[in-house]
Amino acid sequence: KNSLLRICDLTKEEIFDILHDAEAFSCSQSDWQFPRRTLIANLFFEPSTRTHFSFASAQHQLGASVENFTAQGSSVEKGESLYDTVKTFESIGFDALVIRHSQDEYFKELENIQIPILNAGDGCGNHPTQCLLDLLTIYQEFHTFEGIKVAVIGDVKHSRVANSIKEAMDMLGGEVCFSGPKEWVETDASYKDINEAVQWADVVMMLRIQHERHQETMKMSKEEYLQNYGLTKERAAMMKPNAIIMHPAPVNRGVEIDSDLVEAKNSRIFQQMSNGVLVRKAVVKRALGYAPFDR
Ligand code: CP
Repeated sequence: KNSLLRICDLTKEEIFDILHDAEAFSCSQSDWQFPRRTLIANLFFEPSTRTHFSFASAQHQLGASVENFTAQGSSVEKGESLYDTVKTFESIGFDALVIRHSQDEYFKELENIQIPILNAGDGCGNHPTQCLLDLLTIYQEFHTFEGIKVAVIGDVKHSRVANSIKEAMDMLGGEVCFSGPKEWVETDASYKDINEAVQWADVVMMLRIQHERHQETMKMSKEEYLQNYGLTKERAAMMKPNAIIMHPAPVNRGVEIDSDLVEAKNSRIFQQMSNGVLVRKAVVKRALGYAPFDR
C-alpha cells in the first residue's frame, strides 16, 4: 500500500517522481482524473485550513468522491478510539484516508489498516506533504537542491515542518540551519544567530509560534519577539539578492514576520499554497496505485 507517513520513507527517486507529477498537473496533465470510482475521506483531529482544503481541492480535481470528517460531531465524542474510527472508514468502503492528529506518529497504531493513509501532520513529528510542497517551491526557484541553504527560524522544537525539511534537504544535497529562541532550538552545529542565518540562506523559512503545543504562556510580547527572532524589514534587507521568504502558514503577521513581507516580491508564501494542491494531487494519485507520469 502506498501510504505517505514520513518524508524519510521516500527515496530520492520517489521524491522527484512526486515533484515531476505535481509539475505535470500544472500543465500537460491538468485534466488527468481517476478512471474508476474513488472514495477518499479527510480525517482532521486538529484544526487546518491549507492542508485540509488543498487535499479536498486536489481530490475533487482528480474526480474522487470526498468526505470530510472532524472529531466534533462524530463518535469520537462517545469515546471511539482513533484505530476504531479509521477501521470503520476502511470497512465502509473508503479507498484512502488523509489523517491529521495531535499524537506524534499516530500512524504506528494503524499498521493493520490495509487502505493507504496520507499523513496530514502528526503532533510535533512529520508533515510530509508540506515538505513536498516546500521542495517544489524551492526547486521551481533554484532548479536544484544541491548546495541550497535553508534557514528554518522560530519555534523549531514544536514544528513538524522543521523536522521534515531537514530530513529532505539532507537527502537531496542541501543544507539546513536552525535559528530562534534557545529554549526552542538545539544550539548544536546546525544553530545560527538570526542575523547570520538570514544572510547565509537562499531560503528564509519562518515558523509560527505553536502556542497550542506549549505548556507555558510566552513571556515575551509580540513586538519583542519580532525584534529578537522575527523577520523584520531590516533583516529582510540583509538577505541575499536572489533569496526567497517561505512560511508554511498560518502566518501570525507582525509576530514571526513583518506583515508587509508576507506578500513582498521575494515572498513565496502564497505560491507554496498553490503548490500544495499540485503536490497533493500527485500523492493522492500515487496512494491509489497509479504509476508516475513519464519523465
Ligand atoms: N501549513 C499548514 O499545515 O497549514 P494548515 O494548518 O492550515 O493546514
